[in-house]
Amino acid sequence: LAGGPLSGRHVLVTSGPTHEPIDPVRYIANRSSGRQGHAIAAALARLGARVTLVSGPVQVPDPAGVTVRRVQTAREMLAACEAALPADAVICAAAVADWRVAAEAGQKMKKEPGAAAPTLAMALNPDILATLSCHAQRPRLVVGFAAETEKVVAHARDKLARKGCDWIVANDVSGDVMGGAENAVHLVTASGVEDWPRAPKEEVAARLAARVAEALA
Ligand code: C5P
Repeated sequence: LAGGPLSGRHVLVTSGPTHEPIDPVRYIANRSSGRQGHAIAAALARLGARVTLVSGPVQVPDPAGVTVRRVQTAREMLAACEAALPADAVICAAAVADWRVAAEAGQKMKKEPGAAAPTLAMALNPDILATLSCHAQRPRLVVGFAAETEKVVAHARDKLARKGCDWIVANDVSGDVMGGAENAVHLVTASGVEDWPRAPKEEVAARLAARVAEALA
């Protein structure tokens, strides 16, 4: 949208899971459809923003009017985000794997008859949200997500402090939100908590995009 409230702004969005390879045919991942993150990218573009969407492997289509950078791993996602800076805001909606397999096997690991199950040594992945929050080129507005199954707002407040971001969009994933069409979220900021009504992910995205426009105005 030329002349929209976000025209002239660059917003970075992460979406989807990351895939952390075990060997050429196996990987570790979080559950994530990418629906919420992609809807946010689309909503920001509709308000006139130049949007870079860094996405892990998802089935949902690329949003219209958005530059999409496809990645597999958390380390690739961080590199793609850093390469996209500077940005006015970043929305980290991706479900990034916290750990990767320390040493990816070059060949498919074979299941030998009678052999014990292998043990996978893991390494810590970079935290993209935390890295961007204290980056030399930190976007003015840094927004994270928190998927929680209990004490949703309390955990979101902790996360806000720990990650150094400005807002946390907290959602209760104890029900049927994962991969579903709707989301019920709380917007947690330094000034308080807003409980947003359960709504289609596109509507949550539009509301968040409008708030981003307000914050950057
Ligand atoms: O720590 P936790 O995974 O619960 O935090 C969720 C938030 O942090 C989300 O915004 C997610 O996109 C982001 N995150 C990240 N990189 C990680 C882990 C989480 O950007 N390695």
